[in-house]
Amino acid sequence: DGAAHRLTVIGTGYLGATHAVCMAALGYQVLGVDVDANKIERLAAGEVPFFEPGLPELLAKALDSGRLRFTTSLAEAADFGDVHFLCVGTPQRAGSYAADLRHVEAALITLARGLHRRALVVGKSTVPVGTAARLTDLMHAVSPAGDAVELAWNPEFLREGFAVDDTMRPDRLVFGVSSRWAERRLREVFAPVVDQGCPVLVTDPQTAELVKVAANGFLATKISYINAMAEVCEASGADVHDLATALGLDERIGSRFLRPGLGFGGGCLPKDIRAFMHRAEELGVGRAVAFLGEVDGINQRSRERMVDLVRDLAGGDLRGVRVAALGAAFKPNSDDIRDAPALDVASALHRAGARVWVFDPVAMANARRAYPALEYGDSAFDVATGADVVVLLTEWSQFREIDPAALRTVVARPRIADGRHALDPARWQAAGWEYRALGRP
Ligand code: UDX
Repeated sequence: DGAAHRLTVIGTGYLGATHAVCMAALGYQVLGVDVDANKIERLAAGEVPFFEPGLPELLAKALDSGRLRFTTSLAEAADFGDVHFLCVGTPQRAGSYAADLRHVEAALITLARGLHRRALVVGKSTVPVGTAARLTDLMHAVSPAGDAVELAWNPEFLREGFAVDDTMRPDRLVFGVSSRWAERRLREVFAPVVDQGCPVLVTDPQTAELVKVAANGFLATKISYINAMAEVCEASGADVHDLATALGLDERIGSRFLRPGLGFGGGCLPKDIRAFMHRAEELGVGRAVAFLGEVDGINQRSRERMVDLVRDLAGGDLRGVRVAALGAAFKPNSDDIRDAPALDVASALHRAGARVWVFDPVAMANARRAYPALEYGDSAFDVATGADVVVLLTEWSQFREIDPAALRTVVARPRIADGRHALDPARWQAAGWEYRALGRP
């Protein structure tokens, strides 16, 4: 009986908190674990420590049902669960392209020391291919249950902003297992998801690890491809917006992840492609993914080109220019500012001498903390008041819905740079605005 499983979720960041709450919603007894006592206290009190639509409501329900609890003790987790999900972060290592696996290793070793009976540990974190094999040895060496503890890999593909839906209704589940027993356990745990028609791919752990980095590498490549085309469009007078629409109508290409602009940021794509290059070098196949270096380069260049475009729009010099920056989060529906193109551009404009006023619907507290030199306002209209240039950096729907005629009445000069190809140029031009976007004439 699948529902008899007691699950632990180790690491309660974007991924782990969502996973823990969703597993409780599916009917399991779940224990969420984190080394951060403050985070655990907040979650136990029903507060999600980050912005994720739908998650607070689902957390409240799970806590009320008594099926979800939180702890800082991995010993308690080892004792409680028979399936343990590892959801701790794998950030980029300082001064290197490599992934920092210290959190994963520390969590796994501490957990394994407490495992006295047969258990399944399931890695969900994004890791370099080959990590599971190495972790298995570490785990067997320290666990009192020895080989009776198994490690499987089940990569997580959820997007921030759609985390609940992506967890409940994923495009696919990938089970990287070393035994039929582990496969059966995973099939039981995910039965409610699989029964809704989600395809399952069963493979070995190294392939499962690689699916995740290969997918993110592909997505990053798609975005940089269209941003490279934007550069060609600019040099030739072509329009990347129409180009992307036409390319996307080819079913083999598809229109998603083909939106030109400022490029990708966040806690995943940038560090994942770098860690992938680093790992491929170690494996002696660096040449095979060397193009990801270009993908990264095109992405960084999009941010620089955006700064140039704003300078151009401001008349060639940014000193003393008042800029209204709409958006700080790395994408809409998130308060995540990790490697956010928006804040990267805003601070580059500031360094070039502009006075930059930032507004974001949910990422203000994070932005203020990380970028204290920028100035902040209470609304789009507030920051735009007296602005020489308005810059759209994160395509929140509330920015898309701004009435250009109304905004025009508060700015000093009606000039807008659309960093996300999110606005209709004809509408803004009709309201008297000078409209500019990367890759458009
Ligand atoms: C990504 C992957 O999509 C997800 O499967 C993985 O699990 C984690 O990494 P996420 O980081 O939440 O998810 O964001 P995503 O929606 O993929 O967007 C990434 C970045 O690409 C954002 O900065 C977004 O603005 C940018 N982007 C996306 C574009 O610039 N153009 C596009 O067409 C699409």
